[in-house]
Amino acid sequence: MTNVVVVGSQWGDEGKGKIVDWLSERADIVVRYQGGHNAGHTLVIDGTSYKLSLLPSGVVRPGKMAVIGNGVVVDPHALIAEIEKLAGQGVTITPDNLRVADNATLILSLHRELDAMREDAASNSGTKIGTTRRGIGPAYEDKVGRRAIRVMDLADLDSLPGKVDRILTHHNALRRGLGVAEVSHQTIMDELTSVAERVLPFRDTVWLFLDKERRRGARILFEGAQGSLLDIDHGTYPFVTSSNTVAGQAAAGSGMGPGALGYILGITKAYTTRVGEGPFPTELKDEIGEFLGQKGHEFGVVTGRKRRCGWFDAALVRQSVATNGITGIALTKLDVLDGLEELKICIGYMLDGEQIDHLPASQGAQARVEPIYITLEGWKESTVGARSWADLPAQAIKYVRQVEELIGAPVALLSTSPERDDTILVTDPFED
Ligand code: GDP
Ligand code: IMO
Ligand code: MG
Repeated sequence: MTNVVVVGSQWGDEGKGKIVDWLSERADIVVRYQGGHNAGHTLVIDGTSYKLSLLPSGVVRPGKMAVIGNGVVVDPHALIAEIEKLAGQGVTITPDNLRVADNATLILSLHRELDAMREDAASNSGTKIGTTRRGIGPAYEDKVGRRAIRVMDLADLDSLPGKVDRILTHHNALRRGLGVAEVSHQTIMDELTSVAERVLPFRDTVWLFLDKERRRGARILFEGAQGSLLDIDHGTYPFVTSSNTVAGQAAAGSGMGPGALGYILGITKAYTTRVGEGPFPTELKDEIGEFLGQKGHEFGVVTGRKRRCGWFDAALVRQSVATNGITGIALTKLDVLDGLEELKICIGYMLDGEQIDHLPASQGAQARVEPIYITLEGWKESTVGARSWADLPAQAIKYVRQVEELIGAPVALLSTSPERDDTILVTDPFED
């Protein structure tokens, strides 16, 4: 028995929500440890769809504890709105099933505004990142700059005014430079006091809670957001998010030691998608890309933007297997490939006449690489809803085996539709 970390091995939207929901039956606690409400995780249970951004995907299962760790940036308005939205779907969230780390950073309205202002300005010069405009980057900047307001500060009304002054000194200087109105001390104080009563009941010393639970033998499932190629260090910088998304962050972002992490499950889409700007070597701007987008319903959960689609990039996922220490993968959306005559898999790149087996770190080189492909025969049969290997066509099995060989990690789970139970279990990550 072990704890399990779920990470995205591509550019996000690999199907983490579905797999976390499925695995959470076997877990006691589900923990988010980075990112914020830039994430959009979809669960489909008996035809009912739940879209979660900030709350861990285990929250819909009765009797499970959901935890938002210190590594998450928490927009209190988004948190309250998501709790209310789920209440409308019959999911009750109270301090009995949700804890928020008292040392997590808060996203304020000035972060959202700065994110949007920067993106608008960059659009004019063609340098935008294509962020979700949720204030994620600016909030992490304030955290690292040691001027953030944190969850626990909502309860410390004596020291809060000084903290507000500190953050405003920085932001108002920026706002003057951008030519927008300054924010008053009172505005931020009002914003914080208006949410305090709703947020504070959930606050907890999460590292202590997790330590006690671990000692008692609880099974802990960590839910990553985004994907490894969006990692602030290991991703396609600067077209990345502002947190470390790799599995190691599960420890730092929750306060549990890395020794307790256990099995690292990389969620891997059977093709590749990306939303927002940045390099994408296997992108298909043709009718096959369109086919994948339509069949896979590739539209962003958070922003509704159309996701860019392309062939499976084994070189990228092999890189993620290394940077995350992936033990095994959950291969999702295999069904979307049904009906394609042939399938390509990228096995490496050509860069300035040389063959390389990984994505180089420089922005210029990332834009120049040309994928090297192998071609496999497709399959005509439907794999939608397959629940055992025996239901898969021989060519689909060949594709899966080829993926495993090229990325250097085995398939532990295989997903064949958005529905919770359309999942094939090969190896139980909690028992490995
Ligand atoms: P996440 O951000 O990694 O949780 O993924 P998203 O929820 O943003 O995007 C994945 C989408 O694919 C969602 O609409 C899921 O319902 C859907 N999905 C997940 N697994 C499968 C699958 O195996 N087949 C199909 N067709 N859809 C899937
Ligand atoms: P889930 O958890 C896909 C992308 C944005 C943009 C970049 C930076 O659902 O897989 P940010 O708002 O984080 O500063 O945006 O990161 N991005 C995601 N792409 N899935 C996500 O989350 C993402 N979260 C952020 O599109 O390119
Ligand atoms: Mg998503």
